[in-house]
Amino acid sequence: IEKEQIVIDLLKWFKQNKRWMPWRETKNPYYIWISEIMLQQTRVETVIDYYTRFIERFPTIEDLAAATEEDVLKSWEGLGYYSRGRNLHKAAKVILEKHQGIVPSTYKEIIKIPGIGPYTAGAVLSIAYNQPVPAIDGNVMRVYSRLYNISKDIMAKETVEEVRQRVEVMMPDGYCGDFSEALMELGATICTPKNYKCEACPIRDYCRAKEQNLQEQLPVRIIK
Ligand code: ADE
Repeated sequence: IEKEQIVIDLLKWFKQNKRWMPWRETKNPYYIWISEIMLQQTRVETVIDYYTRFIERFPTIEDLAAATEEDVLKSWEGLGYYSRGRNLHKAAKVILEKHQGIVPSTYKEIIKIPGIGPYTAGAVLSIAYNQPVPAIDGNVMRVYSRLYNISKDIMAKETVEEVRQRVEVMMPDGYCGDFSEALMELGATICTPKNYKCEACPIRDYCRAKEQNLQEQLPVRIIK
């Protein structure tokens, strides 16, 4: 019951408060994939520009697959982490040759694509295909460690697995993409590492960290 109410309150908040981003105007799996790769090590404001130019230059997977690596890296210039660009290009060719140009819609297949790890797989499957596959990033780990007062090391794979399961059981039929993005948005704008804004949080009434004033102590990150 509480789980369901958390989902309802979060989705309602997201609908009313989400920031405009160009990839939020589409469900095209190719575009969602590009945005998620770019967003991994780069700020939203920077990505908006690069994303817009990238999809103008390479509007389809076919266009990207047909380009030279030099061309792709030229569009990536300034974004950094160039292996992301190289993998994106390699992946476009794989998707064209092995998947008829369609981004795979199952975890088993999409996870084999170069540059796509568990996070990107979950993001693309939930946002583009509305599948109940969690996308666990640092934001989601922080939100859940606070919401449920999880004080185990968030870098430990058992902790990630616990959070993955907690997210999975909450993913609402038909709204998996909105739920994924709502969690990311909450972590990026409200449930931030410092200066978190609990008074504006749609799920503050359910938050164990807030209840015990543990926001500052969570998540726990053991530096090895
Ligand atoms: N960070 C990663 N994915 C994102 C998304 N879809 N929207 C906003 N920020 C993100």
